[in-house]
This record gives sequence, C-alpha cells and structure tokens, in this order.
Amino acid sequence: MNILVIGGGAREHALVWKLKQSPLVETLYCLPGNAGIAQICKTESIAVDNLPAIIVFAKSHQIDLVMVGPELPLTLGLVDALQEQGIAAFGPSKAAARLEGSKGFMKDFCARHRIPTASYRRFTAEQVTAAHDYCDSLGGIAVIKADGLAAGKGVTVPTSALQAHQAIDDALLHGAFGAAGREIVIEEMMVGREYSFFALCDGQTALPFGAASDYKRLREGNLGPNTGGMGAISVELSEAEVGQIMTQIINPTVAGMVAEAMPFVGILFAGLMKTATGFKLIEYNVRFGDPETLVVMMQLQSDLLPLLLAAVQGQLAGQQVEWRQESVVTVVLAAGGYPMGPLTTGVLGNFAAVPVSDDLMVFHAGTKLKDGQIMASGGRVLAVTARGDDLAAARLRVYEAYGKITYPADFLLRRDIGG
Ligand code: AMP
Ligand code: GLY
Repeated sequence: MNILVIGGGAREHALVWKLKQSPLVETLYCLPGNAGIAQICKTESIAVDNLPAIIVFAKSHQIDLVMVGPELPLTLGLVDALQEQGIAAFGPSKAAARLEGSKGFMKDFCARHRIPTASYRRFTAEQVTAAHDYCDSLGGIAVIKADGLAAGKGVTVPTSALQAHQAIDDALLHGAFGAAGREIVIEEMMVGREYSFFALCDGQTALPFGAASDYKRLREGNLGPNTGGMGAISVELSEAEVGQIMTQIINPTVAGMVAEAMPFVGILFAGLMKTATGFKLIEYNVRFGDPETLVVMMQLQSDLLPLLLAAVQGQLAGQQVEWRQESVVTVVLAAGGYPMGPLTTGVLGNFAAVPVSDDLMVFHAGTKLKDGQIMASGGRVLAVTARGDDLAAARLRVYEAYGKITYPADFLLRRDIGG
C-alpha cells in the first residue's frame, strides 16, 4: 500500500519509522517531513495546512491511506476533504476535532456526558466581572484557559490569585491570546500526577493505545516556561487503572460523539490527572502527542498499519495490540531561545557515532538538510529515544547518545528526564 504521513516533527518521524517496518507498506511519503524523515521515506515541502496541495499529492501518488499527525490540518478539515475525494484518511473529522480545537466545547461535552473533569465556567469579554467573581469562588487560584488553539500557550496555571486575575484581564481585555482568547474557560485547580493516555478509535470502539508522561517545563526540576514537551517516559498503569480510564472517560466520550452525530475516528489523546478521587480529564487532543508518541511507538510490538486501517474501516472490535514490556525514555534537544524565540540555529553532527536500532533512535523534530549538512530548523530539534529493562537503563542509553552527537553550545536538553 502507498501511505502518506502529514507532519514534520519527531512524532511524524516516529510514525514513519514504525510504518516503514510494516510488510504491507509499498511506498511511504511524508509532507513536509524533516531531515531525519527524508532518510527513510520520500518527502516534499508541502505545508500541513495547504489542504489543496495535499489532496493533489495524495491523488497523483495513488495514496491508500493518509495518516494525519498534527492538530492544525485536522481542525481545518483535512480528513473530510480527503474523504470527499475518496481517499481514506486516519484522523477525526473537522467536527470531531473540536474536542481539541475548543476548550469550551470540550468542557460542555464532558458535562453533557458526565465525564469526570475539573468544574468550570466559560466567559467572554462582556462577562469580565463575572469571570473575576467565579475565579474568587474557586478560591482565587483557578486555571485560566483561552478557548481556542493558542499554540500550547493559552493556559495559565497560576501560583497566586493575583496572577489568576491578571490572566483573566490579559485574555479578555488585552487580547493576549488573540482570537483564541476572546473567550476563556476558568476551571478548578486539580492536583495529582499527570498522564498522557492514548485510545485508538474507529467511531464506535476504542482500544487503549499506550500511555506516557511528558515533561512540559523547559528546565530541570520542572522549572521555567511551559513547552510542547522536553521529554517523556513510559508509564505503567495497572489493568484496573486502564479499566477505570476506559469506563469512565474514553468509552463515554466515544459513545457521546456517536450520540452527537460526529463519531470519533483516530487517536483520542486524554490528558489525565490522577487525583485523590480518581482519574480526571484535563483536556482532549485529537491526535498523537509529541514527544509521547516516540515512547509509544518504541513500545508497540504489533504492526501499526493494520490497526490504523481497522480504525478507518470501523473494525477495531476484537483487535489485539501487543506491547513490549520494557521501559522507554525520550529526551528532546531544543534550540537556544526555545520556546519564546527568536530561535538560534546551527549544524548537528556525528550522528554516525550513535548505532541506531529498533530500541535506540535519534528522531528528528526541527531539522533540515542544507549543503549536505543537518541543520536545526525549529524549536525542538531532536528527540533521542531508547528502550531498556527499566527507566534507568533506557535513560542511560539516551544520554550516552547525546554525549556523541554534536550540536551548538546554546542548545539545551534536560538532564533529569526519567530520573
Ligand atoms: P492543557 O493545555 O489544558 O493541557 O493545560 C496545560 C497544562 O496545564 C496541563 O498539562 C496541566 O499541567 C495544567 N492544567 C490544565 N488544567 C488544569 C487544572 N484544571 N488543574 C491543574 N492543572 C491544570
Ligand atoms: N506533549 C503534549 C502534546 O503533544 O500536546
């Protein structure tokens, strides 16, 4: 089969790497890809939001399945547009992608379907006084969220009431998040360990599809600004815990989406918090996480492609998924200036010194090939990922690899992932 992956980060590198191992794959393409992806499949520089160009590409290359990585093309309706042309695509429709695209929509959905999540209310600029009052009613320290997609920067988790009230004014009165923050959600602050939990969905049926914990803060000790993720580790959830998550959160969501005439096909990524009263949903994403997917792909033993096809064809019920029992660690190398910018760039080298295999990979995030050299071209640049008997063994292999690869002195990586 001819398979096309959309995206150009470490998540897509891991997906392409895994798909490449499938005997069912004839030709693999990725748009736009990056320098690492280009080493294992064909790439072309078509942007993920250029829907017409993606459709033309898929048609002219007789693509049998398009796997969409990032949320932007999903929220723009890429899957709907491909299906209208008779091209099978893995990912939710534009309507179903609102679970990620609008926090207010997602919270209202949870309320309608009794899915455990933080209590909340929604406010617009006209309701700024009521917003401040509600924040006070939650004890002052409440979480403030821009309604729309704000490139991961729309959430304020304050450490004081003053900061919470400031975030309300910044979003509603000063346009800090642009159009995405014209409406906000204010919600109760929850406490507990966080998990990224993935479910593979075919519209009717959901299968647990791995879990990981990511490290969102830039600096060691979980300090510094929030990022897209500076690393991730595999986590062990018990059967009872997975059962609770599926019964209380994932299955009611899948059933609710059917009831509301927008069945969810694709990867449902639940950001969960394990609170004193059980797992609660922090947020939904409608795609694989980055960098969590690197961990999940290195743990997945089954062929990925038949599972993606079964999801698209509504045939997931009864499918078995095999996992490796070892632990996985991934650590991100970020460019100087990340996440605020301006980003620095530079040459990356000595990759040949790292013996990559099915349990050690140098996944590329923001890289490009220029004059025969691999250059950094983004905020998150690389993500070395390794499997081992336990987290300690896996992390040792990751940091050993980073000891060999060369990169500019102002690039940074956290030394405490999995420690
Ligand atoms: P989100 O974009 O909704 O995932 O929020 C980003 C991060 O903010 C989450 O990963 C949590 O660490 C934190 N967060 C979001 N909502 C809450 C909440 N209600 N209570 C505590 N922390 C939260
Ligand atoms: N690492 C979190 C995300 O992919 O949104």
